[in-house]
Amino acid sequence: MTGKAKGEKKGATKAAALGKGYGKVSGKLPVGIIGASGYTGYELIKLLARHPKVDLKVLNSNTYAGQQVKSLYPDFFGSLRFTDYPMDMVNAMVNVLFLALPHKAAMEAVHQTAKGVKIVDLSADYRFADRKLYEQVYGVKHIDHLQAQYGLPELFKAKIRKAGFVANPGCYVTASILAGFPAQKFAQSIIFDCKSGWSGAGRNSAYAKDNSLTKDNIIAYKLTTHRHKHEIQQFFSIPISFTPHVIDTFRGIMATAHIQLRKGMKREDIVRAYEQFYKGQPFVKILPEGIPSLHDVQNTNFCHIGGFESDEHNQLVVVSVLDNLVKGASGQAVQNMNLMMGWGERLGLE
Ligand SMILES: NC(=O)c1ccc[n+]([C@@H]2O[C@H](COP(=O)([O-])OP(=O)(O)OC[C@H]3O[C@@H](n4cnc5c(N)ncnc54)[C@H](OP(=O)(O)O)[C@@H]3O)[C@@H](O)[C@H]2O)c1
Repeated sequence: MTGKAKGEKKGATKAAALGKGYGKVSGKLPVGIIGASGYTGYELIKLLARHPKVDLKVLNSNTYAGQQVKSLYPDFFGSLRFTDYPMDMVNAMVNVLFLALPHKAAMEAVHQTAKGVKIVDLSADYRFADRKLYEQVYGVKHIDHLQAQYGLPELFKAKIRKAGFVANPGCYVTASILAGFPAQKFAQSIIFDCKSGWSGAGRNSAYAKDNSLTKDNIIAYKLTTHRHKHEIQQFFSIPISFTPHVIDTFRGIMATAHIQLRKGMKREDIVRAYEQFYKGQPFVKILPEGIPSLHDVQNTNFCHIGGFESDEHNQLVVVSVLDNLVKGASGQAVQNMNLMMGWGERLGLE
């Protein structure tokens, strides 16, 4: 599924007038970020600033326009500044646009993006095949009928390569699907018990403003009703349950999948099924022995999957870990751009 933005007429005209001259000068692909000041926006800045084939031209922020990135994120090494280009200029300046905006704000930005500008949207606005379900889950009316390709490379690589508009998956969703998908052919049901670092809620969340909430704490929330449950279920024909927790770390997700097998299976057959399923996927590492650790994937685009223990009730436990801001968001977005541009999937991510 690919989509074209509706606000394309005005932007396209202006783009033709201004020309995408930046790319011609540097020989690199001009790209931009809307929502650049947020947690995923900043992660995109870091990844795109060092990507060998792109030139980061637009770092739009309503709140911090004109300020240096390092004034907001002191660990940033460089002199880039946040921008506030109007969308018709953005359309003229970039070939690929990353939307690191909250849901609803993202669909409004998509609406104003010109035809011909490829989009990777990190929000949930275009992740649901069923638009009515999206409206029910997110409690907002969708403003259009555009469809995006769901951007999970391990499931949809060939389609992403042809797409002009990609909906990047949710962070819990990526960890859960990768942990459970290969098992669904021999499972009855799956419970995803997930833990996330507090950056998962964004830079304006209560956790970001008051670290005492998460310090030495574990917070279970939306035990059966989290929005990501519905996004995950789209990819499973068996019933799934999902419960999230916030833990006392900045970045990282662990998904512990309790998989009810239809009948007993040997551990080596289960491991082999996972290894076969993810063969050739550069960012999924199967650990045949041992249990994955968050420390091994933080600040990387990798998802590690391990555990593979089952008990006397034929309950199999598989554990996945990834960095919610990288494989769970911005790294996966860059991986999707690489695929959309026909480049090597790993470019700028290793
Ligand atoms: N955090 C994660 O781990 C994660 C993982 C996967 C997906 N996502 C998704 O990625 C998107 C961005 O997440 P994030 O964590 O980067 O969020 P965030 O830290 O809250 O940043 C979002 C940024 O969007 C800008 N913005 C523009 N219009 C806005 C509006 N109407 N309301 C609020 N902010 C607006 C804000 O910056 P200015 O005011 O400077 O413009 C804000 O800093 C969300 O849709 C989120 O669900 C997040």
